[in-house]
Amino acid sequence: MKLNIVITGGAGFIGSHVVRLFVNKYPEYNIINLDKLTYAGNLANLKDVEDKPNYKFVKMDICDFDAFLKLMQDEKIDGIIHLAAESHVDRSIKDPFTFARTNVMGTLSLLQAAKLYWESLPERYEGKRFYHISTDEVYGALEMTNPEGIKPPFTTTASSSEHHLAYGKDFFYETTKYQPHSPYSASKASSDHFVRAFHDTYGMPTIVTNCSNNYGPYQFPEKLIPLFINNIRHRKPLPVYGKGENVRDWLYVEDHARAIDTIFHKGRIAETYNIGGFNEWKNIDIIKTVINTVDRLLGRPEGADMDLITYVTDRLGHDARYAIDSTKLQKELGWEPSLQFEEGIEKTVKWYLDNQAWMDNVTSGDYQKYYEDMYDKR
Ligand code: NAD
Ligand code: DAU
Repeated sequence: MKLNIVITGGAGFIGSHVVRLFVNKYPEYNIINLDKLTYAGNLANLKDVEDKPNYKFVKMDICDFDAFLKLMQDEKIDGIIHLAAESHVDRSIKDPFTFARTNVMGTLSLLQAAKLYWESLPERYEGKRFYHISTDEVYGALEMTNPEGIKPPFTTTASSSEHHLAYGKDFFYETTKYQPHSPYSASKASSDHFVRAFHDTYGMPTIVTNCSNNYGPYQFPEKLIPLFINNIRHRKPLPVYGKGENVRDWLYVEDHARAIDTIFHKGRIAETYNIGGFNEWKNIDIIKTVINTVDRLLGRPEGADMDLITYVTDRLGHDARYAIDSTKLQKELGWEPSLQFEEGIEKTVKWYLDNQAWMDNVTSGDYQKYYEDMYDKR
C-alpha cells in the first residue's frame, strides 16, 4: 500500500530516528519531514536519507494553519505522526508561552487542518490516521516508596538488566489521571486532550502514546545524557540537580521509533499506549555509569572524572519519579525493547565520542547556518 505521511519534528532527536526508520523500511511511502528548524532541529541528523526518492523536507511552523492545510491537499496526506514540540523542561520554566504556542496551538492547528482536508474527501476518515507522540510527564510524579530499589513484580523484558529495579510500588498506566507539574508537561497534557477531543467530537482516527525518557544518538546536548558525555570529555563540571536521586525510566530511542512504527500500523484507533522498557534509574547512578563509560572509552582510568560531579540548586517543581507500565503495548502489539540498558549506554557514549564533529557543530550553532544557506539558495 502506498501512503503519504507527514512526520512533524523530524529534524529533532526522536523524529529523525522515526524518519530514518520509515524512509528505509517503506520505500513505497512518501515521507515528508515537516520541521520549523528551531534550535533543536538539525538536518544533519538525516544526512544518510536526505537523497532518498521517498523523502522530502519541508520547512514549516506547525502553527501555520494555511500552509499546513495546503500541504495536506497538495500531498494528499493519509497519515500524520506528530512529534514537533518544545521538549525541554528547563526551557519551559523560563519561557512557558513558547510551549503553549507550539505544543498546544500548533497541535490544534494540525488537527483542524487535517479535519478540514479529510472531511472534504469522499472516503472522509477511512484509512487516515493522526498519531500524536506524547510523554509520561503528563501523569505527574510517582512516589519514591522504595528509595533503595526493589525487584519489580513483573517478569523481565528484553531491556531488563542486572539493575532492573523499581523505586516505588506504583507505575504510570494508560488509565492514570493526568497531573502535569511543569509548563512543558502541562502543554503536552493539553495537546493530548485536544487530540482525544477531535476523535470524540468529529470521529477523527487518532492515537496517543506516552513514552518515558529516551536516550541515544542525535539528542540535543541540553538533555542530561549528551550534555554530561560532552562535559566529561572536556572535563567540565556536571551540574546535578538537587541530590541526584530523582528517578527516570530510560528507553533507547530506536526502540521508541520501532514502537511508533508498530503502533502507527497496528494500534487501535482512539487508544492510548504507554511506551517504556521497565528501566528505572536514579540520576546519580546513570551519571556514574556515564562517567565510567566515557573514561574507559577515552583511555582514562575508570572513575577518574567523578570529581566533576557538582550538586546544584534543584529544578523548580522537579518530579521525583517516572515509571511506565508498557504491558498493554507489549501484550497487545507484541513490541518489546531490544536493548539492555548497559548495552544502550555503551552504544550511546561511543556514538557521541565518535561523532565529535556533530557535537561541535551543534554546540557552536553552525548546524543551522549551513542549512539556512542551503534552503535560501533553492
Ligand atoms: P526535540 O526537541 O529534539 O525535537 C523537536 C523538533 O520539533 C525539532 O526538530 C524542532 O525544530 C521541531 N519544532 C519545534 N517547534 C516547532 C514548530 N513550531 N513547528 C515545526 N517544528 C517545530 O524533541 P524530542 O526529544 O525529539 O521529542 C519529540 C517528541 O517526543 C516531543 O513531542 C516530545 O514531547 C516527545 N517525547 C520526548 C521524549 C524524550 O525523552 N525526548 C520522551 C517522550 C516523549
Ligand atoms: O519523561 C519523558 C521526558 O524526558 C520528555 O517528555 C522530555 O521531552 C525530555 O526532555 C525528558 O525530560 P527530563 O526532564 O526527564 O529530561 P532531562 O534530560 O532534562 O533530565 C533528566 C533528569 O536529569 C531530570 O531529573 C533532571 C536531571 N538533570 C538534567 C539536566 C539537564 C540534572 O540533574 N542536571 C542537568 O543538567
